Amino acid sequence: MTHDPLLSPYRLRHLTLRNRIMSTSHEPSYSEDGMPKDRYRLYHVEKARGGIALTMTAGSAVVSPDSPPAFGNLLAYKDEIVPWMRALSDECHEHGAAVMIQITHLGRRTAATQADWLPILAPSPVREAAHRAFPKEVEAWDIARIVADYGAAAQRMQAAGLDGIEIDAYGHLPDQFWSPATNQRTDEYGGSLDNRLRFTFQVLDSIRAACGERFLVGVRMVADEAWDIGLSRADGVEIAQRLASCGKVDFLNIVRGHMDTDAALAKIIPIQGTPSAPHLDFAGEVRTATGFPTFHAARIPDVATARHAIATGKLDMVGMTRAHIADPHIVRKIMEGREADIRPCVGATYCLDRIYEGRDAVCIHNAATGREATMPQVVTRSAGERRRVVVVGAGPAGLEAARVAGERGHAVIVLEAQPKPGGQLLIASRTPRRRELMGIIDWRVEQIAAHGGEIRCGVWAEAEDVLALAPDVVFIATGGFPNTEVLRAGNDLVVSSWDILSGQVPAGENVLVFDDNSSHPGMQAAEMLAEAGATVELVTPERYFAAEMGGLNHAAYAERFHRHDVRLTINTRLLEVRRDGNGLMATLGSDYGPERRERRVDQVVVEHGTLPAAELYHALVPHAVNLGEADYAALLAGRPQTVVRNPDGAFRLLRIGDAVASRNVHAAVYDGLRFAKDI
Ligand SMILES: Cc1cc2nc3c(=O)[nH]c(=O)nc-3n(C[C@H](O)[C@H](O)[C@H](O)COP(=O)(O)O)c2cc1C
Ligand code: SF4
Repeated sequence: MTHDPLLSPYRLRHLTLRNRIMSTSHEPSYSEDGMPKDRYRLYHVEKARGGIALTMTAGSAVVSPDSPPAFGNLLAYKDEIVPWMRALSDECHEHGAAVMIQITHLGRRTAATQADWLPILAPSPVREAAHRAFPKEVEAWDIARIVADYGAAAQRMQAAGLDGIEIDAYGHLPDQFWSPATNQRTDEYGGSLDNRLRFTFQVLDSIRAACGERFLVGVRMVADEAWDIGLSRADGVEIAQRLASCGKVDFLNIVRGHMDTDAALAKIIPIQGTPSAPHLDFAGEVRTATGFPTFHAARIPDVATARHAIATGKLDMVGMTRAHIADPHIVRKIMEGREADIRPCVGATYCLDRIYEGRDAVCIHNAATGREATMPQVVTRSAGERRRVVVVGAGPAGLEAARVAGERGHAVIVLEAQPKPGGQLLIASRTPRRRELMGIIDWRVEQIAAHGGEIRCGVWAEAEDVLALAPDVVFIATGGFPNTEVLRAGNDLVVSSWDILSGQVPAGENVLVFDDNSSHPGMQAAEMLAEAGATVELVTPERYFAAEMGGLNHAAYAERFHRHDVRLTINTRLLEVRRDGNGLMATLGSDYGPERRERRVDQVVVEHGTLPAAELYHALVPHAVNLGEADYAALLAGRPQTVVRNPDGAFRLLRIGDAVASRNVHAAVYDGLRFAKDI
């Protein structure tokens, strides 16, 4: 290949970045006691090993105790963070990557009822909807204290050997001063742009006083809130120009939008089904207006778009953040001419949605990310004998087991009943905005083929078919069937969400969807029905919708439900359905009282997860050396499965994914990886 602009080094003052690809700051919620311990370190080291030029660690490491963690943030105000960050940066440096960290004061963007229970604050007492806390108005003594805290936190990061820091000025305290939406002050911190920037420059002065001129300092900044009551583009670009020319800042990392609600955040961090790189041109315009080193990330998931961003001079460094959660070895694969092997980020945003639910960020289809201590990002060949591995079912679980077994060097055959691989993702991806999910399947199909594996579709495998293949290991990954038999009466009158999603049952005109799963299928069926023109009521026994789904995924449904006026009914169960003339009568109840309500509709859809399709598994159990038993202790310790319950058994039988119980894609892929990696 001719010279690749993505691989050209970039000089940021005294620091040479080895290429143009970075991971922007993101909090994966891997911290322990607010510290970046082993899990955190290994996560970043893996990206360094994978060739990334710059890893911006943490997401919003907090500089003060009255900025309590909103999503597992690191505590940059504690001295004990220094040795942890030192270990992280040293090891990343050994692999050639530069390391920085984002520090912040969250201002109103957190909750007061946690950690040290200090009141949270903001320039003006304007509540942020997303975190719900009511902030107190910042006082002069708060400013002095927080400004000093920024300097001290930056100094800790310098002491830890980091190459630099960035301060967060989008949705956080610095830009809460910039934005008219959050700053209604009439003192020297409100009103004119000079006044609204005062706090930011005090922070920068404090950092420079603490760290000197050589330490790299950037600002991740909103340059247009795209909001009628927020920071205008003209003000935002002027702020960028002032920061660029102030002599205290080394780079800008450009953001567009605001983030006080899920709906707004979903435009800053767009998920699947939305245009690629929506703010890239804008970031390029800021670069032109400032002539300053410009970084940017927002849904640039593929190498071609990243290359375009650099080749056209829109950016100096391109952020591929979720792309690295999906595959931390992007740069190495580019360098080796193996772009096709890059595991694609499919934009599912399972990773980010989880941290707002108080969980850790894991990738929907890379179960090794965040588990680098126990799960391999690069599967190595087995030193043992080559095994014959038969996998039944070509959904995410089966294909992951097949991929990993293939990379281990085993002979792999996958049997799939459907004409195409994909399992439940074939159904989920029928909604156009979720089509990218098929990347989870397509990538595995290609990887399996590359390692000599074979996928036979349209094969309904019986026990004798499997036995005829003389396997050493059999994976049963046959998935499940929708479970709609959950009503007191009228189970035969309802259809499943799969019936709707697959198109097997046409949409009714007046439809009640009972979602007793709280994840995608029920919501997606409701969306599909509404888009087809049906009048839809979505009923759930939960206290809010899609409890298993995070805010960014929810935003896409909420937008469509709002557009089509879908009726949303919480705290309500569907009890029974009966015929009523040429329609149906649905009886609704509640866990909260004996009253009953009725709805006359022409279609009832029930979503209650799946029941395992496990007939083949049970038929094979008597033939298996382990009688189907899994040794969970060995699994969790990363040891091979060795259970012997039937010495005459010819093969080891392992059941994974929804063939065990109704779960989700990540659980399926994790099953496949961890059982197959030790064969
Ligand atoms: C799990 C997760 C946590 C994040 N936390 C932060 C954060 O604390 N601070 C920040 O500036 N951006 C945060 N982000 C946003 C990313 O830095 C980035 O802007 C976003 O993911 C869009 O880039 P991408 O499309 O390349 O992923 C987070 C993203 C993810 C996926
Ligand atoms: S969960 Fe989805 S968005 Fe997040 S890294 Fe994985 S593929 Fe990308």
